[in-house]
Amino acid sequence: MSPFASHDGRLHAEGVPLDEIAETYGTPCYVYSRAALVTAFQDYRQALTAHGVADRALVCYAVKANSNLAILELFASLGAGFDIVSGGELARVLAAGGDAGKILFSGVGKSRLEMADGLEVGIRCFNVESASELEKLNEVARAHGVRAPISLRVNPNVDPKTHPYISTGLKTAKFGVPIEDAPTLYRRAADLPGLKVVGIDCHIGSQLIDPAPAAEAAAKVADLADQLARDGIVVAHLDLGGGKGISYRDEPALSATDYLAPMLKVLAGRKEELIFEPGRSLVGNAGLLLTRVEFLKHGTDKNFAVVDAAMNDLMRPALYDAWHGIVKVSHGGTPSAARTYDIVGPVCESGDFLGRGRDLALAEGELLAVMSAGAYGMAMSSNYNSRPRAAEVMVDGSEAHLIRRREEITDLFALESLLP
Ligand code: LLP
Repeated sequence: MSPFASHDGRLHAEGVPLDEIAETYGTPCYVYSRAALVTAFQDYRQALTAHGVADRALVCYAVKANSNLAILELFASLGAGFDIVSGGELARVLAAGGDAGKILFSGVGKSRLEMADGLEVGIRCFNVESASELEKLNEVARAHGVRAPISLRVNPNVDPKTHPYISTGLKTAKFGVPIEDAPTLYRRAADLPGLKVVGIDCHIGSQLIDPAPAAEAAAKVADLADQLARDGIVVAHLDLGGGKGISYRDEPALSATDYLAPMLKVLAGRKEELIFEPGRSLVGNAGLLLTRVEFLKHGTDKNFAVVDAAMNDLMRPALYDAWHGIVKVSHGGTPSAARTYDIVGPVCESGDFLGRGRDLALAEGELLAVMSAGAYGMAMSSNYNSRPRAAEVMVDGSEAHLIRRREEITDLFALESLLP
C-alpha cells in the first residue's frame, strides 16, 4: 500500500498533507515516509524468516541509494548492516549510529586512506574487486598490524536484463573479477598475511524485475564456495548483492519473497551466512519529490510545464530516460483542461526533464509530486546551474520532520576562495 494517498482531494504523506509540507519547507523538497521505509525493511526480514534463514542472514542497506543520516539511523535501529562505497559513506553510517561490525565496503577504487579508515573501525568485510586491490589492502592491513577480512566480488557473467548503465555482472563490466579467475585469486588471498578470507560477493545489477538471473548468479557463487572448500578455503558468508527492482510504472510490484525465493531455493541447505545489499527496494517507493509549477508554456507543437525541480535534483530521467509518475497534489478548484505536457526544470539543458508527454490539467503555482524518488534521487543530486539542493523531510504519522535543510545560496560557494 502506498504511503502517499489522496484524502479530500489532497495528496498526503502518511497523515500529513503535502501542500502543508510545501508551505512549511518550500519546494523542491524530498518527502519520505518513515512507515514505508520500515515496511520495506521488514519485508526482507519476513522473507528471510519464512525461508528459515533469518538467523543467518544480514540485510546491509546500500547507502548510495539514499544516504541521509535519519534514514541510516532508522535502518540501523531496525538491525540493518550497511553496504558502503566510500569513506564518506563510512563516516555517515558511523555518525548515524550504525554498527561498524555490520559494514561491507564495496567499490572498484578504494583509496589507501579509505582502507585504513575501514580497518581502524573494524568493518565486517572488504568486497575486493581486483587482483591489485588484494595486494594493496594486504599492505595497508600489515601496516596497521591487522588482518583485513575480505571477500572477492565475482562477476558471474549473468545478464540481469536491466538498463545497460546499471548492469554490473557481465564480463564487459568494470566491476569484480571474472568468476573463473576467482579460485586463483582466493588462493593468493589466503597466502597473504594481511588478509583473512571470509566470503564471496556478487552483485549483478540494479532494478531487476526478473529474479531468475539473481538465482543463476547465486548458483554460480555457491558452486565457487564448494570449489574453494575443496581447496581448503572455507568462506563464512555469501553476499548476493542488491538489485531488487521496484514498480515505477507498470513493472510488477515484486515483494522481497518474490525476489529472494528462487535464490534461497538454490542456496537451501547451505551453512554460510547470507548477506544482501538492497538499496532501491528499501527506499525508492518510500519517497517523492515535491515541486511547484512555475510557468506553463503552451505551443502549437508542444506544451511545457516548467517546475522548480530540475535534473540537478532528480537526475534519473535525464541520465537513464527513467520514468517517474508525476501527479497533482491537489484536486480541488476548477480544473483547466488536460493537455499533454513535458514537465521540465529551469536548468539550461534540453535533457532537463522530469517527465515527458504527461496528460495533466495544470495551473501555474500548483504542486506536483514526482513519485518513487526515494532512491538515487537526493543521493545523485548536484548544484549544477548553482542551484541549492532541495530540503528533505521525513513524515512519521501526523508529524513532518526536516531531516536536511534546504541549502542556502551562500552554501554554494562556501568552500571557494577568490585569488589573493
Ligand atoms: N551493491 C552494490 C555493490 C551496488 O553497486 C549497488 C548499486 C547495490 C548493492 C544496490 O543496488 P540496488 O538494490 O539499489 O539495485 N543510479 C542508478 C542505480 C545505480 C546502482 C548502483 N549500484 C539508478 O538510479 O537507477
